[in-house]
Amino acid sequence: MTEASEAAQADRTLKARHRAMWAQGDYPSVVSHVIPDLGARLVRECGVRQGDRVLDVAAGSGNAAIPAALAGADVVASDLTPELLEIGRHLAAVRGARLEWREADAEALPFADGEFDIVMSCVGVMFAPHHRPAAEEMLRVCRSGGTIGLVNWTPEGFVGRMFAAMKPFAPPSPPGVQPPPLWGDEEHVHELLGDAVTDVDARRETVRVDRFGEPSGFREFFKACYGPTIAVYRAVAGDADRVAALDAALDALAAEHTVDGVMEWEYLLLTAHRRG
Ligand SMILES: C[S@@+](CC[C@H](N)C(=O)[O-])C[C@H]1O[C@@H](n2cnc3c(N)ncnc32)[C@H](O)[C@@H]1O
Repeated sequence: MTEASEAAQADRTLKARHRAMWAQGDYPSVVSHVIPDLGARLVRECGVRQGDRVLDVAAGSGNAAIPAALAGADVVASDLTPELLEIGRHLAAVRGARLEWREADAEALPFADGEFDIVMSCVGVMFAPHHRPAAEEMLRVCRSGGTIGLVNWTPEGFVGRMFAAMKPFAPPSPPGVQPPPLWGDEEHVHELLGDAVTDVDARRETVRVDRFGEPSGFREFFKACYGPTIAVYRAVAGDADRVAALDAALDALAAEHTVDGVMEWEYLLLTAHRRG
């Protein structure tokens, strides 16, 4: 095998693992219980209008893609995980939204250059393991003057810190894999988008999460529903002390972020225009 074909094989293996990780648990419940309005927030910020051609990258079950379609746009929801797209199809039918669902790796989008007026991603593209190719693909498929819109969890916010807390318990990542919450760092996104965009508007906002009550309520819900958390618990499952230490780390973090039963989870909301 040549070096290039070995690298391609390693990438296919990594993506297959990621796909399996996001398909486990019940990610659509995380959306409906925790971030039901975040996709619509991004759609509003991108100024999605009737007739716009919109791509939602790493769309999952359509948290942003469905509101965009309901706004009258011509939407493609793309994601690595077909199981989530299938659930999205069903949710869209229930809500009366019509859109296209396409299985696709954010690092190799199956779309033409400049095909979309708006290319957006809601806590999605941040999970593609190689940030530069993912950013380049979003830019490539956006037309000149079109809009790029991103919502990403920040490294300092609750979800960013949850990933940091889980890291010592997770198996080491293959070389070249970058941490998802880096996409919530404004400098990092500026570097990725570079001169290819103008009119960058970036701000930090929070999602108010009030469904967990006790910190352990958060942990139990994520342990059951959220793929990355399930994967880390699986990795330590044979070691009761490690499981207890992970439980304690997540409970401590949740307690630190909870005031009167309410948590605030910080994200970076960024929009920009593709330079002509
Ligand atoms: C936290 S979910 C966000 C889903 C959706 N955007 C939302 O707001 O609910 C992250 C998504 O990224 C997808 N994903 C992970 N790696 C990907 C990749 N390389 N290419 C495309 N999608 C990917 C997962 O399948 C999952 O649907």
